[in-house]
Amino acid sequence: MKDQADKLREMAYNVRQQIETELRNENRKARVIAISSGKGGVGKSTLALNLSLSLSSKGKRVLLMDVDLGMANLDIMLGALPKYNLYNLVQGNKSIDEITITGPSGLRIIPGGSGIQELANLSGMELKRLLVDMGKLDNEYDYLILDTGAGISSNVTSFLMSADDAIIITTSEPTSITDAYGVIKILDRNQYSGRVFLVVNRVVDDSEGILVAEKLKLVCQKYLQINLMPMGYIANDEMVGEGIRQQQPFIQLYPRSKAARGIDNIADRILQCRSEESPGYEPANKGIRNFFKRIVNIGR
Ligand SMILES: Nc1ncnc2c1ncn2[C@@H]1O[C@H](COP(=O)(O)OP(=O)(O)OP(=O)(O)O)[C@@H](O)[C@H]1O
Ligand SMILES: [Mg+2]
Repeated sequence: MKDQADKLREMAYNVRQQIETELRNENRKARVIAISSGKGGVGKSTLALNLSLSLSSKGKRVLLMDVDLGMANLDIMLGALPKYNLYNLVQGNKSIDEITITGPSGLRIIPGGSGIQELANLSGMELKRLLVDMGKLDNEYDYLILDTGAGISSNVTSFLMSADDAIIITTSEPTSITDAYGVIKILDRNQYSGRVFLVVNRVVDDSEGILVAEKLKLVCQKYLQINLMPMGYIANDEMVGEGIRQQQPFIQLYPRSKAARGIDNIADRILQCRSEESPGYEPANKGIRNFFKRIVNIGR
């Protein structure tokens, strides 16, 4: 039998736990990761979608946002027909829940299209409302993954500069590597404060990926202030194209394929990076709300 004191102690303990959880939630912020490349067609959208799914299947809450202003195509890769996009949210006639579609494994997706450019034209009040909405997402998600366009246009670089981490993806083709270096150089010139991750796609084997990554890392060490962090390699795998044809993510169709294993390894590295590998590395103003604040400030 529990006596009165035991019961009180238990109650006090529960209250303390509740307060601690709430405090933790207050400080909770999602991590915003932008995926980009120098050259087009090297696998950004493929990585964005399948990496998001891999993180979801590992228990993370992921929001994937298509910010390729030229050719948004995540919805096509999923065979989805979204009714709304960010534009409807920015205009104030739809909520975040209404514009977000749900993909496999509970992954949530904000479809591409217009909307980002309109952010720059919002009045102070409209902006405040939007930022309050976006702030709520920091509690609801662990990661916001951005699928950006290719190249060094100001749109793309502002997404990269505003994100907490950047993933630059390249293939082993010299043109793709040179263009990837071009993007990294822009990040360096703008004193990017986040981490810069590298993924090498469509490799014949891991050693090809390692070679490309090490070369690029060395060049960055020699000429730039950027510590390029190789995150892994994805095999050139016909199952990837099969997924596109079936409008289903290949990581779900063929979870044991070489490319799927490559993506899973990258997801593991990203999860490790959050804690052990980058001790003390926490950007001061990270999270979804701060990301939108930065995007808007760059656009003004
Ligand atoms: N590891 C891989 N193995 C085989 N094919 C791949 C692989 N990665 C990507 N592809 C193929 O390359 C093509 C381009 O991929 P994707 O659309 O992901 O590139 P992207 O960088 O997003 O292009 P864009 O610059 O147009 O946005 C697709 O047809 C895709 O199937
Ligand atoms: Mg793309």
